Amino acid sequence: MVFVISADSVRDLRVSRPREYLMCPPERFAVAYSINPWMDPAAPVDTDRALAQWTGLRDLLVELGHTVYTLAPLPELPDMVFAANGAFSVDGTVFGARFRYPQRTAEAGAHERWYTASGWRYVPAAHVNEGEGDFAYVPAAHGGVVLAGYGYRTEPPAHAEAQEVFGRPVVSLRLTDPRFYHLDTALAAISDDNVAYYPDAFSPASRRVLAELFPDAVLADEADALAFGLNLVSDNKHVVLPAEAAGMAAKLGAAGYAPIPVDLGELKKGGGSVKCCIAELRA
Ligand code: ARG
Repeated sequence: MVFVISADSVRDLRVSRPREYLMCPPERFAVAYSINPWMDPAAPVDTDRALAQWTGLRDLLVELGHTVYTLAPLPELPDMVFAANGAFSVDGTVFGARFRYPQRTAEAGAHERWYTASGWRYVPAAHVNEGEGDFAYVPAAHGGVVLAGYGYRTEPPAHAEAQEVFGRPVVSLRLTDPRFYHLDTALAAISDDNVAYYPDAFSPASRRVLAELFPDAVLADEADALAFGLNLVSDNKHVVLPAEAAGMAAKLGAAGYAPIPVDLGELKKGGGSVKCCIAELRA
């Protein structure tokens, strides 16, 4: 006898875990300079619209049962809405960011002050790293593995630094397509033990490593990645992703997840979407 388990019944079996997140409202959001191929300072940005879209995302996370903390935006830091870049935390330890570009350097201190005031153990970084932009954590795979991107922002020595800070294996992955300049534009943890990624954003060797570590990964194609379909946040069941990424939502649905589309079109002008706006706090 053969039992066929449908995506619907897998979805019913998936259990979401409540999360804690840190976000920063885009009250000062602008595209004032260009440090990634998505940013065009000549294109108009509607800050009120960005704020309304961001508020929708925050309210959705709260409705899903998650806790969202807010970091106050500072003047002269128009990219601060991309809170994922400010640090990376695992097991209650926070590894601070050190930004590549001077336009964003001061964001690291704002994050440090928030974490320190909130009682987290904060370890400052010696090498350039852009927090969760280039670090992902998969808690139940390979004993708790950190996936780390390099090629555009984070420097490889920061990967070794993170391994010393966390005592978890850190797997270095080389990004090779400038449109996908941060790891979180090309790969996401979708469950406690699995990831989704766009293979062509990585070097052939890194692709081999990913295929070896995650044989059941959900694979994205170029259209999915260009729609920022990998810039998602998952609670192990619900996967919040940009509405534009309908193809990615279908793939995740077929794999037994519950995709929830949100419109973050205004923030995409800065080169970011759902995941970029959210730092996960892993106590
Ligand atoms: N404009 C920002 C930058 O280029 C976007 C950051 C997006 N964040 C992310 N986690 N991918 O630095």
